[in-house]
Amino acid sequence: QRFVANYDEAKVPEFNLPNPLVLPEGGMVASAREWEEKGRPATLKLIEREMYGRMPVGKPAGFKVVLDREALDVLGGKATRREYLVSFAQDKGPRVRMLLYLPKEAKGPVPAFLGLNFRGNQCLEKDSWITPELGFIVGARKGEDRRAKAEAMRGSAAGRWPVEMILEQGFALATACCGNIDPDFHDGWKNGVHPLFTEGEPGPDEWGTISAWAWGLSRLLDALEGVKEVNAQQVAVIGHSRLGKTSLWAGATDQRFKLVISNNSGCGGAALSKRAFGETVGRINRSFPHWFNGNFKKYNEREEALPFDQHQLIALMAPRAVYVASATGDRWADPVGEFLSVLHAQPVYDLYRKGALGVAEPPAPGETVGMVTGYHLREGKHDVTPEDWKHYLSFFQ
Ligand code: GCU
Repeated sequence: QRFVANYDEAKVPEFNLPNPLVLPEGGMVASAREWEEKGRPATLKLIEREMYGRMPVGKPAGFKVVLDREALDVLGGKATRREYLVSFAQDKGPRVRMLLYLPKEAKGPVPAFLGLNFRGNQCLEKDSWITPELGFIVGARKGEDRRAKAEAMRGSAAGRWPVEMILEQGFALATACCGNIDPDFHDGWKNGVHPLFTEGEPGPDEWGTISAWAWGLSRLLDALEGVKEVNAQQVAVIGHSRLGKTSLWAGATDQRFKLVISNNSGCGGAALSKRAFGETVGRINRSFPHWFNGNFKKYNEREEALPFDQHQLIALMAPRAVYVASATGDRWADPVGEFLSVLHAQPVYDLYRKGALGVAEPPAPGETVGMVTGYHLREGKHDVTPEDWKHYLSFFQ
């Protein structure tokens, strides 16, 4: 049966959003302390069990970080560029190559952005110094010449990663290819980090690929904690699309992230599932069966049965900063549903007396709303652009 996306507000089903302050087992959270003691753990467990899946806890015993390469004068002498190799079970299993840019002028440890990329670090800049990604990349085709492909893609994501603009404002930038952590295809979890920590097929409550990527982001933050030029207490985690779903889940599960940014993350990210506008739970689970866990499949075409919605994922960031961005031409990701998640996370932020969005309707394109929770709608298609980064950089000041 062919999937036909609904893009008509009049056809959005009626739904009740769970109150984020009501505990799954009953009772209400009335203070920040109760949220931390009961509300947050219960909400996190519920979303973990029913959607993204349980991941291993903390830094594994075999965790290892090695500085592999360094270029001292890049971007016209304004930055240092390094590549680190991060592994999780000594030298067994996947090895992640983390590219790190540090501003040269810094007087002390600097805040940083950390985000995964789709097709390799060499996509950030044309410069041939960056090691090309020869492992699995998103969109890879069987039998293609990986080296030729990697070389052809040098600098292709420069618009998504305006390195100079980020560095000029005093931030460091760290990135790695998501496929180094877990390749983006379904093979019964035999590839990537899953077999290092889970024997056999993960259970229906255990981690899928988005959880594996989020877990990987936490490990990259562990690696940044060991870099003296970076202030690891001031790290923003950022991601676009499937990697925006991932940055939200990483921010929810790891409270060390100071700011959590979702760029056009859509269904399974910032968008409310119960609106079933654009991409739906059933559609995403059928197209990408490996992203979420087995339990999440119960809600295919049954969004009304979901005991939570994505505003509760946003609420898990409280009292930290969280920023959601949509694009006008990205109806598949449901811009209105992305805005509403941030809006309806507010009761939890209110417990901390933390600033509200200040509006009840989505703002006009180009405008930023909010201080601790933030949102903007960009004119244009599904993408991350320097314009989005302008909002992120000023929000993170
Ligand atoms: C598909 C998918 C989205 C996802 C996007 C991406 O469009 O349906 O859920 O966000 O890919 O990651 O680019």
